[in-house]
Amino acid sequence: MDNSTYSFGMIGLGTMGRNLLLNMADNGFSVAGYDKDASKITTLEKEGAGKPVKGFTALNDFLASLSSPKVIMMLVPAGKIVDNVIDELCPLLSKGDIIIDGGNSHFTDTTARVSRLEEKGLHFFGMGVSGGEEGARRGPSMMPGGDTHAYQYMQPVFEKIAAKVNGEPCVAYIGPGASGHFVKMVHNGIEYALMQLIADAYEIMRRSLQLSNEEIRSVFADWNNGRLQSYLLEITADIFAYKEQDGSYLVDKIKDEARSKGTGKWTTQVATDLELPVPTIDIAVALRNLSKYKSLRTALAAAYPAEDKKSTNGKEGITKLEAAFYFSTISIYAQGLHLLSRASAEYKYQLKLDEIARIWRGGCIIRAALLEDIYKAYKANPALEHLFLDASVQAMIQSALPAARDIVSTQMANGISIPAFANALSYFDAIRSENLPQNLVQAQRDYFGAHTYELIGKEGVFHTEWEGNQ
Ligand code: 6PG
Repeated sequence: MDNSTYSFGMIGLGTMGRNLLLNMADNGFSVAGYDKDASKITTLEKEGAGKPVKGFTALNDFLASLSSPKVIMMLVPAGKIVDNVIDELCPLLSKGDIIIDGGNSHFTDTTARVSRLEEKGLHFFGMGVSGGEEGARRGPSMMPGGDTHAYQYMQPVFEKIAAKVNGEPCVAYIGPGASGHFVKMVHNGIEYALMQLIADAYEIMRRSLQLSNEEIRSVFADWNNGRLQSYLLEITADIFAYKEQDGSYLVDKIKDEARSKGTGKWTTQVATDLELPVPTIDIAVALRNLSKYKSLRTALAAAYPAEDKKSTNGKEGITKLEAAFYFSTISIYAQGLHLLSRASAEYKYQLKLDEIARIWRGGCIIRAALLEDIYKAYKANPALEHLFLDASVQAMIQSALPAARDIVSTQMANGISIPAFANALSYFDAIRSENLPQNLVQAQRDYFGAHTYELIGKEGVFHTEWEGNQ
């Protein structure tokens, strides 16, 4: 191939970048990849043998191999590296060229980059890509936002390489500015909460129901065949099936200290800034942090020993747990979507929640059968203020609610830590309360700090000298 036959370039040939590039090549696009690490070029060309794929270790050669306008996607670690790559690229590109950041960049960084590159006449957009290694290779879910010209140019490629659900590609233009990265961040926040919920279910099954790993695998696999069907449950069942050569379970040998790259934390930080509650995402982030205090936990475990009581509920217990899980899952998606609608108003992202639910149905980490119902709810009413208000969702909640209450109260009474289940339920109970006790909080603030309060049915703010009036 000569030097100008590649229609798309990728910078960063880690697993995600390489797999996305190979996915494009599978779909007939001629693609070039750039990475300073020669071993990554070797892997790319080996895996792409027979396909229109070429790798480069020299940036100039890579750029010279791209047809015009040059379209370059970056899949490099979020943060400073993204800016370094952009700085290196800018002097070598011409007006009209397109840069796509496909990593998990913080949306405020993307906002700054959009305006910086606009001034230079370059098209830039941030795109959330979800699905892990396999998704990138076989069909991810993609959340592109920003420059519409750039999106329209790339739309046919993205629609080809995306995961498909009922023949529809799991990609849609998300909105202006950094909306694509914002939506991906919230996707990850939901991912954290769902993972904690599954971890809670595991805790209940091993400590309360006292099931073996094989029994736990079987429960997760069964759930995955029903209304709870989801990618995260599917991989969880696989994890409980994985045995080492000596017959021991790998999951039992893994340290109980979870790490994170930051997108969940960003979601809770941004939600707090926007004053929009996503408590089950917050608690999932908190539990990852708490898990790191192993020696403290060990000391406290000795000080407050647990007395696990075996539940005699058996099959009935599993049925209830399934319903409680279903309820909690609805609560988690509802919180994430509520955050999206709040952010859309704040940042003028013009988000279409039906489209977001649609493209999350396949390819991404949080794909689940429930997203079909969520998609229908927002399609029927794009202005739906909260998922709990949809009539079909209401029916789903009503049927699962008694089990959720039962599971939460029983497990909490037995001292089993179930933060996601408990939180998903108390979020529901708070948000469905017409009258909250926050009138008292206002009175307290006014008492100690003269922060004033507002009165029911009376305009203005008021202050009272509370002390001495008892
Ligand atoms: C995806 C994932 C991915 C994320 C990892 C790790 O949608 O494919 O969300 O983008 O980076 O899951 O996230 P943590 O390291 O924060 O757990």
